[in-house]
Amino acid sequence: MPTLDMKTLPAIFPLLGLLFVLYCLWGVLDFIWFHYLRPKSYAKFLHGTKPYALITGATDGIGRSTAKVLYAKGFNLILHGRNEEKMKQVVEEVKAVDPASGLDAKYFIADVSRSDIDFRGIGRHFEGLNITLFVNNVGASFPNNQRIDELDEEFITNILNINARFPFFLTRAFLPTLRRTSRSGPVEVVFVGSFAGDVAVPFVSPYAGSKALIKRVSRILHADERVLSSSNLSFVYANVGEVQTGTMKVATALARPHADDYARYLVESFGSGRRSVIPHPVHHIIYAIVTGMPEVLADYIVLAEARNLFKKMEESKKTR
Ligand SMILES: NC(=O)c1ccc[n+]([C@@H]2O[C@H](COP(=O)([O-])OP(=O)(O)OC[C@H]3O[C@@H](n4cnc5c(N)ncnc54)[C@H](OP(=O)(O)O)[C@@H]3O)[C@@H](O)[C@H]2O)c1
Ligand SMILES: *[C@@H]1O[C@H](CO)[C@@H](O)[C@H](O)[C@H]1NC(C)=O
Ligand SMILES: *[C@@H]1O[C@H](CO)[C@@H](O)[C@H](O)[C@H]1NC(C)=O
Repeated sequence: MPTLDMKTLPAIFPLLGLLFVLYCLWGVLDFIWFHYLRPKSYAKFLHGTKPYALITGATDGIGRSTAKVLYAKGFNLILHGRNEEKMKQVVEEVKAVDPASGLDAKYFIADVSRSDIDFRGIGRHFEGLNITLFVNNVGASFPNNQRIDELDEEFITNILNINARFPFFLTRAFLPTLRRTSRSGPVEVVFVGSFAGDVAVPFVSPYAGSKALIKRVSRILHADERVLSSSNLSFVYANVGEVQTGTMKVATALARPHADDYARYLVESFGSGRRSVIPHPVHHIIYAIVTGMPEVLADYIVLAEARNLFKKMEESKKTR
């Protein structure tokens, strides 16, 4: 039997070192490819007579900005919001991006924190349209420095409904329509996720748990469509770091782009063929560093950043 003696053992270390260097190099090359070299692929969803993109939570932040970007690129829109007045203003704003295009912009209204939403009714209402992009964007966290036993059940239920239950059941209601459209070309369902689904941001367990659930659901739905036959219907989890939006009213920074800038990266990540993406390059670097380090260290850094962010959000509340 060959034995590892003290003379041959050290020979393994340079090999391990080389493998590690190759692994890191692969990561760097893939990063450059994905963000800077890869031909952008969202245009493959512009097929058929009248392709629609559906976007939930489209009256503010990332959803509203994404609607504007997609409209400018030639998509008809189905938008979702909870406030009809605000929705009408956003439809005007979106149409003003390209008034001569003649593209359609429809909407529907629903408070997604509720437990009694008529998902089938919403699905049936739009079943005749060719929806080629389905962006599950609506989401909300309300970090208010409280532990789960200090929050009431209704509050927690609302968070779970907004971030997990609604995207899950809405996607379910639209699957037959999406599958039908996918017979004539590519169709993608995007779940807008959060780093909070992967790292330990304090006080947001119902939100973060919902994002982690959606991340896994997205992956499995992709497998579901493929298990019995080939499919043009894909599912992707878009992992988001900090973005300046309606809820996140903190100054922009290198790692915290404005929603309008962020939306361009998000749209460019559509149709990449990957199951999970980090659309913004600076977010991607932060994610790689934080998830690559030992957990205790990552927890410590996330905690420090959370304290810093909570403070800034408090300050921005006071000055408004
Ligand atoms: N901003 C960030 O730093 C960040 C980081 C990670 C992940 N994300 C994710 O990105 C997505 C968009 O976030 P955002 O920052 O752009 O949010 P935002 O600016 O607060 O916009 C949220 C959108 O969802 C709608 N909405 C919220 N609660 C709703 C409810 N109960 N019923 C119906 N609609 C509701 C809002 O409607 P109103 O206009 O009526 O308020 C708005 O259209 C979310 O999934 C979020 O988890 C954001
Ligand atoms: C949907 O797309 C198919 C195939 O391109 C087309 O025949 C049909 O008319 C389209 N339906 C609508 C409502 O645009
Ligand atoms: C996928 O789309 C192509 C057109 O791009 C179509 O010919 C093919 O039949 C579709 N495949 C399935 C499984 O629907």
